[in-house]
Amino acid sequence: MAPKILPVLLSFTLLLLQLHSSAGQNAVKAAYWFSGSNFPVADIDSILFTHLFCAFADLDSQNFQVTVSSENQAIFSSFTRTVQQKNPAVKALLSIGGGNASKESFAAMASQAASRKSFIDSSINLARSLNFHGLDIDWEYPDNAQMSDFGTLLTEWRSAVAAEARSSGKPALLLTAAVSYSANYFGAINPTSAISNSLDWTNVMAYDFFYNDDRTGSRITGPPAALFSPDRSQVSGDSGIRAWIQSGLSPKKIVLGFPFFGHSLQLANANNHGFWAPTSGLVNGGVMSYKEIRQFIMSTNATKVFNATVVSDYCYKGTTWIGYDDTQSVNTKVKYAKDNGLLGYFAWQISQDDNWILSREASRTWGSIGTIFTE
Ligand SMILES: *[C@@H]1O[C@H](CO)[C@@H](O)[C@H](O)[C@H]1NC(C)=O
Ligand SMILES: *[C@@H]1O[C@H](CO)[C@@H](O)[C@H](O)[C@H]1NC(C)=O
Ligand SMILES: *[C@@H]1O[C@H](CO)[C@@H](O)[C@H](O)[C@H]1NC(C)=O
Repeated sequence: MAPKILPVLLSFTLLLLQLHSSAGQNAVKAAYWFSGSNFPVADIDSILFTHLFCAFADLDSQNFQVTVSSENQAIFSSFTRTVQQKNPAVKALLSIGGGNASKESFAAMASQAASRKSFIDSSINLARSLNFHGLDIDWEYPDNAQMSDFGTLLTEWRSAVAAEARSSGKPALLLTAAVSYSANYFGAINPTSAISNSLDWTNVMAYDFFYNDDRTGSRITGPPAALFSPDRSQVSGDSGIRAWIQSGLSPKKIVLGFPFFGHSLQLANANNHGFWAPTSGLVNGGVMSYKEIRQFIMSTNATKVFNATVVSDYCYKGTTWIGYDDTQSVNTKVKYAKDNGLLGYFAWQISQDDNWILSREASRTWGSIGTIFTE
């Protein structure tokens, strides 16, 4: 009898494995790598991540095809192989668009069936030819009138990805989108049902708060990636995540984003250095990497504050004020993601970390919960 049981057990195990993989991802511990950073892909400590996003492929505004610029061809085409050297299990996704990409081109592309098809078919061909496991769209942001086109694009993209998997026999490409911090982004209502049915998950960009009015000089020192607002009167990651869930998106399709950079401002008055203080301009163009912030703190002996109520760090010295996420903020956010049943977390972007301090804190925090408190 015994020899017969083994094959049965084996095929049962294989079936379980298949069911498991078709049920989606267990956890996402991700970060974007940005080509503009010139950070060597080979230096990525990919063991700290389950998924890495290679940013960015471009949308051609004439023919609506997805392309990779000639200077990025070689790096992008070896990206997957390179990051898998340290971690063969890590998955790589090609991200399209980004904060600097033309919103008008995305809107024009999504508005017509023929241009959507051009985008979709070229993106799938590109992902396969460059050896990526998936595709990510970073359209910042569709306005309210464009949201239904965004939904149509995602629906058609998913069905094309499924058809390609059937004909190629390969596992389907992963499909994700970087989306606004809330389902309702200042009146632009995201197409949650299309998002939910079409995407493997969404990268929720819960950062860059209090940033849009910086050119007026009237801006205040808001926590740039606050997780909470004590009286719920201010923008926060938690309010956005709750809005996504209320709109019908499963927590298992939500990946919480946090920044590896801070907002650097000039205080109007060096003695008024808490949150909501008036400012008189930007320091370093308004953005500093975590690495630069740590150097600034060490070289100037700046004062560091972690505010556990909103979950944000800031530091100040003289009239320089920087709001950012340090290890305690990252730790609290990763715990929040896990406690609330979210799929995982991601960070923008890898080169801004300092010797993997934040990446390691995030990975360790996600991994330690559930190992210690087994259910
Ligand atoms: C956007 O453009 C600015 C200014 O050229 C550049 O510093 C930044 O790296 C770009 N960011 C992205 C995500 O492309
Ligand atoms: C750094 O700041 C702390 C507290 O603000 C102070 O006690 C210390 O003397 C400072 N050290 C230097 C080298 O300025
Ligand atoms: C943290 O920030 C909130 C919001 O501004 C504020 O109400 C609270 O007093 C701060 N907590 C500490 C300990 O500074």
